[in-house]
Parts: sequence; C-alpha cells; structure tokens
Amino acid sequence: MKLINGFDLMDYAKERGLILPAFNTTNMELTYGIVKGLSEAGLPGYVQISSNNLRLSNPYIIADLVRDATKNCDVPIGLHLDHGKSFKDVKECVDAGFTSIMVDMSALPFEENMIESKKAADYCHLYHVPVEVELGALKGKEDDIVSDDNAKTNPSQVPIFVEGTGCDTLAVAVGNVHGLDLKPHIDIPLLEEIRKVSKVPLVLHGGSGIPKEVIWECKKHNLVKINYGSDLRRAFIGVFGRAYEANHDEFDVIHLSLEAVDAVAEKAKELVTMINER
Ligand code: G3H
Ligand code: ZN
Repeated sequence: MKLINGFDLMDYAKERGLILPAFNTTNMELTYGIVKGLSEAGLPGYVQISSNNLRLSNPYIIADLVRDATKNCDVPIGLHLDHGKSFKDVKECVDAGFTSIMVDMSALPFEENMIESKKAADYCHLYHVPVEVELGALKGKEDDIVSDDNAKTNPSQVPIFVEGTGCDTLAVAVGNVHGLDLKPHIDIPLLEEIRKVSKVPLVLHGGSGIPKEVIWECKKHNLVKINYGSDLRRAFIGVFGRAYEANHDEFDVIHLSLEAVDAVAEKAKELVTMINER
C-alpha cells in the first residue's frame, strides 16, 4: 500500500473510532518491525522519525525505506517527522515525501514558537501535509537530549496558539514524560480543560510507561495520536544485549537483526492493540 496522506489517515481513524500510534524508528530493522506489527494487528498508524535520529541517515533514505516496508501492507500507514527542530528538517521531510509533520519549537518563548511553527506549517500546507505543534514541554530523555523542563500546557494559551500557528493537531504536556527513567503522572482534568478550548485534536507524547487504563481515560479527550519510542527501542536493543551477555563472541548479526525485527513487531502489535481496546 502507498503511504497515506496525514489528513486522510486521521479521517480514516476517526471514521472507525480508532486512535493512531506513532512509533519511532531509527533504522531499517525498527522500521520493518513497526510495519510488521501494524500489519499483523490489522490497524493503522505512523512510522515516525525525529530530527535527532535523522543524523544517521536522511529524510530521503527514510522515506524510501518506509515506502519499501509498506508496499505489501494492507493497513494505512503514514510517515511522520517527529520533533521537527528546524525549518530545514521540515522542508526536507516534506520534499522527501513524508505525509505528516511535527514542528517542535517548544524550546522557544511563546511568541517565537508561534511564528516559527507558522512558517513551517505554511510550507507543509502548500503540499496538503498536516502539522502537529507542541505547547508546553515534556520532562525526560528523548534520544540523547535530556530535558528538565516541566512546563505543562497552559489552557489559556491554547486558542491563540492553535490559531496563530495554523496547526492541525496539538501535542500537550500534561505530566507525560519522554523515556523510561521518569514516571508519568497524567493530569486528566488538565487534559480535559485543554480539550475544551482546543479546536484541533490532541497528541500525547511519551506513551511508553503510561498504564493502559490511563490511556483509555485520555482517549475521551479528543486524542488522535499517541507516540511510542522507548518501548520499541528497548525491545530492539534487548535482543542484542541478551545475545552479547550470553556470548561475548556473538557475531551472527543477520539472525539477531531478524530477531530484533520480530521483537519490535511484537511490541508494536501489543501497543496498537492495547490503545484501541476500549
Ligand atoms: O516523540 C516521541 C515520543 O514522545 C516517545 O516517547 O520514548 O517515552 O515513548 P517515549
Ligand atoms: Zn515526543
């Protein structure tokens, strides 16, 4: 199946009452594992890659990889730029064929965040590619970036930010965290407050480690997408780590890589099924 446009993917999910997982990739094995997991579950979602992870490759390589991985797949899958940190990254990903984009200028002060996000959103919209923006900041570790920020999304800023950026979805900071080192404490009343004032659907980052009952509660508040990174990375790295622990002379990269694809697929399948259970 051809990669699906991000607007169409959100419509597809909405029509069927589904929520979309966005699974972070870094390389070929993670990508094939994610697509395999979604296919086996028979549920739609995104493969996403963050600006940071593009250092190892580039948007054109990733887009080719994901197009190849999805070509025989029967469920709709989008390709999303996660935490797009610069206009250059956003532009390159759109040009390479990404079907959905996140612009993350959340490190900037409110006004600048809005202006820079709008500039990137305007470019994406020329090509009918939807745009996610972030208001507030998540604590925790995302790739090699450690953030101590813990600025929850301020509901009173939401309407002006959504309007000012022209975004299509809004990533919120409501006690969710990046990585596995910290415990998330999701503030459901805050999420509800944000939902009431946001005219666009919401996105939850830092899915790894959030209990399923909390996810199901969050879903009541116009959530369209949930990001999962660390859970898949742990599944991937665990395969190589266990093999190395068992035998320091292990060299069978091909079999371990194939095993890692399956481990990632299993985890992705479990997560996409769980979030759509209720
Ligand atoms: O943008 C990526 C995510 O928010 C991943 O967070 O590694 O905590 O699942 P996670
Ligand atoms: Zn994130």
